Amino acid sequence: MSSKKGQVVSRKFASYPRLNPLGVGRNITVADAIDQCFLAYNGGRLREAAQLLAKKMLPDNGYVGMSLTGALTPAGLGKSCLIPLMKAGFVDWIISTGANLYHDLHYGLDMELYSGSPFLDDVELRDEGVIRIYDVLFDYNVLLDTDAFVREVIQGPEFQRTMGTDEFHYLLGKYVHARGKKLGIRDSSVLATAYECGIPIFTSSPGDSSIGMNVAAMSLRGSALLMDVNRDVNQTAGIVYHAKSTEHTSSVWILGGGSPKNFMLQTEPQIQEVMGIEEKGHDYFLQVTDARPDTGGLSGATPAEAVSWGKVDPDKLPDSVVCYADSTIVLPLLSAYILTRVKPRKQKRLYDRRDAILEAVRSKYLKTGTVSKVLTSRKVAKRASSVGMKPSKKG
Ligand SMILES: NC(=O)c1ccc[n+]([C@@H]2O[C@H](COP(=O)([O-])OP(=O)(O)OC[C@H]3O[C@@H](n4cnc5c(N)ncnc54)[C@H](O)[C@@H]3O)[C@@H](O)[C@H]2O)c1
Repeated sequence: MSSKKGQVVSRKFASYPRLNPLGVGRNITVADAIDQCFLAYNGGRLREAAQLLAKKMLPDNGYVGMSLTGALTPAGLGKSCLIPLMKAGFVDWIISTGANLYHDLHYGLDMELYSGSPFLDDVELRDEGVIRIYDVLFDYNVLLDTDAFVREVIQGPEFQRTMGTDEFHYLLGKYVHARGKKLGIRDSSVLATAYECGIPIFTSSPGDSSIGMNVAAMSLRGSALLMDVNRDVNQTAGIVYHAKSTEHTSSVWILGGGSPKNFMLQTEPQIQEVMGIEEKGHDYFLQVTDARPDTGGLSGATPAEAVSWGKVDPDKLPDSVVCYADSTIVLPLLSAYILTRVKPRKQKRLYDRRDAILEAVRSKYLKTGTVSKVLTSRKVAKRASSVGMKPSKKG
């Protein structure tokens, strides 16, 4: 190759780092392994995710919202990863399935879960009173005792009203925290840690879990506890508006997909499309999932698609990362990486400021919002749909 030709080649690749793998040494750390050995495909995306967190999402006190789906807490990932991340100030607010919070209670109440196998006889397990979540096993009594704990706690006077799910989880977390103290256990429950750290936890489908089932049953006994989903929608939008209006970045860290993913992302259309407040979208998008984009479902929808909805800032799209892998593999790796590479941050304690956060977005909305069609500076087609439009010359 001539030197002239060589220059052309190097210019062609100028913006791409050379693949330069290093041999794994005996004492290599997780963080070094990710930087040096996770070079391509979903390994490459995992490295990009780690670096996105460490270099862009966490610096300058950026707001990080995390969504949780999949059976993460039954697998112990609450205790092993989520709690250390929350205590380090790396997660500012959370949207979770009810299931992850329900199964978190087992750990908070010091109940026993076991590492089993996915290849057991489920009819035999049922006869023996054993519950199975893939290869996680526990006694049926774990469910019954957890249910009883929820019912006993929520019959108290402070639960006899309508409240946002963040407030409900905060109050529930207070009781789990107190029970943990009595049992002499610490840092066992995501709910108790969120209570300690003032981290709001929402759930997008309050009825769709054993927590919701127990709340519903208690309503048949006269309990007045109801979840205020309108408050949740506005409160989560308020958190994002608070970040953006105080010159902070807003990042979404999505584990899995499902309804919590949308609940986290819809905060931006709620601000722009519904409330009529000028905004550009979340700054950083990181998703770990097994869901594919080509089925049209939201779980697998890409950050590029989210840009079209106003959910993600188009200028930040090149920074987005989707890692197609199992969260139970990726979360411990990402947690180890950022806990090694990034200094702990001051807790934002967004829960403590929930009323002020809601009031800020409410008063802005009442100034800018309308009941009739929202006026937007966003370029919109004259027709909302292409139905009946002439095909373009290009065909
Ligand atoms: N006992 C309970 O309370 C209980 C138990 C199970 C489920 N549920 C309820 O059922 C609903 C569905 O919950 P779900 O968490 O099973 O969600 P789901 O199965 O609908 O998963 C949501 C998305 O996350 C992806 N995903 C799941 N696990 C993943 C992993 N390990 N790695 C990468 N991606 C992953 C899935 O492919 C999917 O796209 C929730 O509302 C939940 O509360 C309740």
